[in-house]
Amino acid sequence: MTSVLKEQTVVVIGGSSGFGLATVEMLDALGARVIVGSRNENRLAAAKAAFPALVTRQVDITDRASTERFFADVEMLDHLVVTAAELPSGRLAETNLDKLRPAIESRLFGSLHAVQRAVPVMRTGGSVVLFSGQAARKGFPGESMGAASCGAIESLVRTLAVELAPIRFNALCPGSAWTPVFRAFFGDHAEEAAEKFGASLPLKRLARTSEIAHAVVFLLENTYVTGSTLVVDGGFGVT
Ligand SMILES: NC(=O)c1ccc[n+]([C@@H]2O[C@H](COP(=O)([O-])OP(=O)(O)OC[C@H]3O[C@@H](n4cnc5c(N)ncnc54)[C@H](OP(=O)(O)O)[C@@H]3O)[C@@H](O)[C@H]2O)c1
Repeated sequence: MTSVLKEQTVVVIGGSSGFGLATVEMLDALGARVIVGSRNENRLAAAKAAFPALVTRQVDITDRASTERFFADVEMLDHLVVTAAELPSGRLAETNLDKLRPAIESRLFGSLHAVQRAVPVMRTGGSVVLFSGQAARKGFPGESMGAASCGAIESLVRTLAVELAPIRFNALCPGSAWTPVFRAFFGDHAEEAAEKFGASLPLKRLARTSEIAHAVVFLLENTYVTGSTLVVDGGFGVT
């Protein structure tokens, strides 16, 4: 069966790594026209080398002017996916708020900058997928700002699904997977953390990035889903 995404234009901010890159790979295979944005030129070049049909462009979505420049050449699009976010952590009593602020600046304001530029050029039938995380749903010491930023995304899509209908807005809450974010978060203990955390889940392993990409594609393709958060976490939320 041919995907409705064939020949549609999808912008993926964060598409040079991890879940974003896996999503780009799936969209490319389905015949979508994919425009990838992120900050690091080398990672963009590597994505382009792997999938030559991609259009790649640098953007820092925490910076409104940079986001405006990125979208200036996008005349029309069908869908926007934003996976990009920073995850600074630290216990509130011991941490300067300036260290934690990038969580909100990237995930919440970054997504809002992108949505504001994408919506005016979105074709009828368009949709947006924003990324949340498990911190929105369970308490982890040191993750207050990650939790607040992910929770903000889950509430944001409910409101924007009404305010900007018929554009569909959904959030994806992924489980943990072995990506640069996971490795950076656990540092020297990443392998040990991956093994321990994976074993604690009902499905006994971390997510594959392709499993998260598959869920993004579902949210883009299914024309009756809006205002929802799709949780794809190997059962973490029910333990
Ligand atoms: N991996 C996990 O275990 C896990 C679990 C739960 C939730 N999540 C969430 O899933 C999302 C994706 O995670 P991931 O594991 O795929 O991370 P990743 O592999 O580090 O990918 C993040 C992507 O976003 C880009 N990016 C970051 N900040 C940006 C900015 N300000 N402007 C533009 N691009 C930016 C990065 O490229 P540049 O650095 O070159 O800009 C990269 O392409 C994140 O929101 C994360 O919090 C991940």
